Amino acid sequence: MELAMSNGRLRPFASGDRASLAELANEERIWRNLTDLFPNPYGLDNADEWIERCVQEGEPTRNFAIEVDGRLVGAIGLDLLDGEKAGVGNVGYWVGVDFWNRGIATEALRALVEYVVASFPIRRLQATVFGWNPASGRVLEKCGFILEGRFPNAIVKGGDVTDELVYGLVPNR
Ligand SMILES: CC(C)(COP(=O)(O)OP(=O)(O)OC[C@H]1O[C@@H](n2cnc3c(N)ncnc32)[C@H](O)[C@@H]1OP(=O)(O)O)[C@@H](O)C(=O)NCCC(=O)NCCS
Repeated sequence: MELAMSNGRLRPFASGDRASLAELANEERIWRNLTDLFPNPYGLDNADEWIERCVQEGEPTRNFAIEVDGRLVGAIGLDLLDGEKAGVGNVGYWVGVDFWNRGIATEALRALVEYVVASFPIRRLQATVFGWNPASGRVLEKCGFILEGRFPNAIVKGGDVTDELVYGLVPNR
């Protein structure tokens, strides 16, 4: 499964991504804004593990490589919740620092949201953002998400405490 972007595409990860993935992802400014499940340092073994996980996931694709001008520049994905949260999806994304502020995350998230709403029985999409990350909040707002809640001091990352912000998008709200 591939999703078109103006100068690129969202596509499944492949084994050929390992070197660029490790190089892009081995970056504290990315790790600082993501869950602790995201490794730091990020080596080739971590890249292999991630790519293998994506390959195992199969279709429909939920975790995409972001490719611009033929280069891997980041990642974006959907986590579908289950049980009483069935129909709710968490979105997450990151872009390599050399590619920040070019509209890439916004375009990637727009494409993902359009695909997810059309392909899955989704009642709600949500994202959690750390209080010190206004760029991500801006990306979400540009894609139609609304800031629904702020949880003071909910996050500790690298020894620093910040708020947790919850953004939501309810299709047809
Ligand atoms: C958040 C992130 C994905 C944004 O990627 P990007 O491709 O640079 O995003 P875009 O260029 O599409 O949009 C960024 C927006 O944030 C704005 N922005 C950037 N830094 C900002 C700041 N310090 N304060 C306020 N807005 C800021 C930009 O101006 C732009 O908004 P605009 O189009 O209205 O001018 C990227 O910074 C990243 O990977 N960060 C680390 C991982 C991360 O935070 N992931 C998301 C976790 S919720």
